[in-house]
Amino acid sequence: MSKLRAAITGVEAFLPDYVLTNAELELLVDTNDEWIVSRTGIKERRILKGKGKGTSDMGAAAVLQLLSKTNTEASEIDLLICATVTGDHQFPATANIICDKVGIRDVASFDIGAACSGFLYALSTAATFVEAGVYKKAIVVGADKMSSIIDYSDRSTCVLFGDGAGAVLVEARENFGIRDSILKSDGHGRQFLHQKAGGSVMPASKKTVDEGLHYVYQDGKNVFKFAVTKMADVAAEIMERNGLKGEDVAWLVPHQANQRIIDATARRMKLPPSQVMMNIEKYGNTTAATIPICLWEWEKQLNKGDKLILASFGGGFTWGAIYLEWAY
Ligand code: UT7
Repeated sequence: MSKLRAAITGVEAFLPDYVLTNAELELLVDTNDEWIVSRTGIKERRILKGKGKGTSDMGAAAVLQLLSKTNTEASEIDLLICATVTGDHQFPATANIICDKVGIRDVASFDIGAACSGFLYALSTAATFVEAGVYKKAIVVGADKMSSIIDYSDRSTCVLFGDGAGAVLVEARENFGIRDSILKSDGHGRQFLHQKAGGSVMPASKKTVDEGLHYVYQDGKNVFKFAVTKMADVAAEIMERNGLKGEDVAWLVPHQANQRIIDATARRMKLPPSQVMMNIEKYGNTTAATIPICLWEWEKQLNKGDKLILASFGGGFTWGAIYLEWAY
């Protein structure tokens, strides 16, 4: 009998209705459409509006759609992992809240905080449980309400990020599924991308709020320098160690932070743009949600056996790649 592998057997996503365009941002900060498009590739992003709405609302919407689409009962799920940096609260885990909202009870559920690489970390973790036979049906959610931690008077960050969620079902399959994963981190890089206040080192206070220290801080130039090499390196590494050439790979599924970082990764993999999933122009950087949102948008174009390379780089620093064969 061939080896059972953890495979993605369904994908769904949720994107809020409100579209924040570059034109609207031009009214908020000193920026322009030409700068944003040429430096990042972003034209618009989605924003979750509504008092009391959080990351779990988007995650729960994606999970409900996923359960319905895959004809799965909530009672069949035995693990749910949520990758996010914008959890509803410091605790409990947003995964717990999503489970409650969709009626998944008495299961293992927890969050993973690996910023833009969170979905790859969470998928790899779920896959390990499923391949070990510990859990049969796992859901991995990548969800972020980045608008909740963005300073809309800071032009260097507010043009980049958007809100959204994606969710995949993970089950064991013969022949197809996740074949390899590489996860890496370098905590020294935290100085270039972090949130200064709101954690145990600098708890939220009137002063931290007045000074805007709960917003995303990013030294874009330095993050770019690392991202552009590390994401290409890790994609090349996973191809090399699995004996893959560019012509073997059907799709690159990259984290959507900057079109120039994605282009550099594709060039290194020797993949034409037509085989790169890119929707950054519509959604910007939704942090943990970018990769499942891409899989959802391209799902109809995927064929059983297609070889996909998922790759990411983000805060931490964290980066990684997953090589999988599409299972349906
Ligand atoms: O997913 C998490 C990981 N994050 C990333 O991967 C992001 C990595 N970094 C980047 O994608 C890029 O560094 C940015 C898109 C954030 C910035 O692009 P850049 O080409 O590195 O620009 P820069 O920061 O070097 O800024 C160039 C100029 C500066 O003006 P001066 O100093 O040259 O006069 C900025 O002040 O562009 C200015 N600038 C802007 N101008 C218009 C910065 N933001 C804006 C803006 N509109 N929104």
